[in-house]
Amino acid sequence: MLQVIDLYVKYSMGKKIKVNAINDVSFSLDKGDVLGIIGETGSGKTTLASAIMRMLPDTAEVKGKIMLDNLDLLAISKKEFRTKIRWKKISIIPQYSMNALNPIKRVGKELTEIIMEHEGVSEEEAVNRVLSLFKDLNLPEDVFFKYPDELSGGQRQRVVIASALLLNPEVVIADEPTTALDVINQARVLNLLRNKVISASRILIYITHDIAVVAGLANKLMTLYAGRIMEIGSSEKMFKNPLHPYTQGLLSSVPDISNGKPVHISYIKGDPPDLTKEIKGCPFYPRCPLAMDICKEEFPEPVQIDDRLVYCHAVRKDAK
Ligand SMILES: Nc1ncnc2c1ncn2[C@@H]1O[C@H](COP(=O)(O)OP(=O)(O)O)[C@@H](O)[C@H]1O
Ligand SMILES: [Mg+2]
Repeated sequence: MLQVIDLYVKYSMGKKIKVNAINDVSFSLDKGDVLGIIGETGSGKTTLASAIMRMLPDTAEVKGKIMLDNLDLLAISKKEFRTKIRWKKISIIPQYSMNALNPIKRVGKELTEIIMEHEGVSEEEAVNRVLSLFKDLNLPEDVFFKYPDELSGGQRQRVVIASALLLNPEVVIADEPTTALDVINQARVLNLLRNKVISASRILIYITHDIAVVAGLANKLMTLYAGRIMEIGSSEKMFKNPLHPYTQGLLSSVPDISNGKPVHISYIKGDPPDLTKEIKGCPFYPRCPLAMDICKEEFPEPVQIDDRLVYCHAVRKDAK
């Protein structure tokens, strides 16, 4: 089980400026859960993933707990995280795969060594496992002998995906993993995640702004805005009947292809708030069609409806 409890992340920029990137985020996932996280650019998706992976820069100040079963991942040293947790228990397919690989090692050697180091298997077995993953990802065998900078962007991304799946970790975080890939290779990656992660009852956190992908993958959905959860719960219920006005806005921004023409039927007007300013009430207030006076003053307590939590005063009022 993975539990994020009262998480806050602030980035310092110089002496005075702080960016409130994650604000009071809590959720919990069980074995087999696939959580889709959606939200506009800057809403804190990558920050949340980096906090779980202990990958935040030193300028970030973190508060809260991230429990993997009974271990608080924020309470152990970075070194302990690297040796005991990373790859083995939790892995990430980062948003930018550019720097994820060691530039001075042939990729096959790097991946083979990770398996041998952690599992003590023979080199032959490790090589076979790497090659089998390469095949699943449609990577040609000669990639094994190349250096990262000799690969195309799409190949590099798929090598990073292979490395995240190498040791069959309990939790896989995929941060917009298919952005650099064409449609066919996107489908391959999604299939691989289905086979290796989802059907093995592991936990998958899938961050994307391609809402259609998440619809086919996730059993849970979170909408994140200005570092706050707006709505979280059953993805089926949220797709069918989104309750938070932000979720409604995001879902109605999906191109309508029912008549063969991709048309953006609607979008949310305005821009996300400046996260260097303290926000007293709901951050979505200035853009919200249901905004009330109280929304400016207080961030709402969540209301539980229909297998989900909705952080909205207007929904709360209607639910009473
Ligand atoms: N290293 C950093 N230093 C300062 N601010 C950052 C840093 N990384 C991200 N931010 C800010 O934190 C907020 C959340 O960013 P991010 O987590 O990357 O969002 P997303 O992945 O949803 O696009 C944004 O306002 C972004 O500008
Ligand atoms: Mg991001």
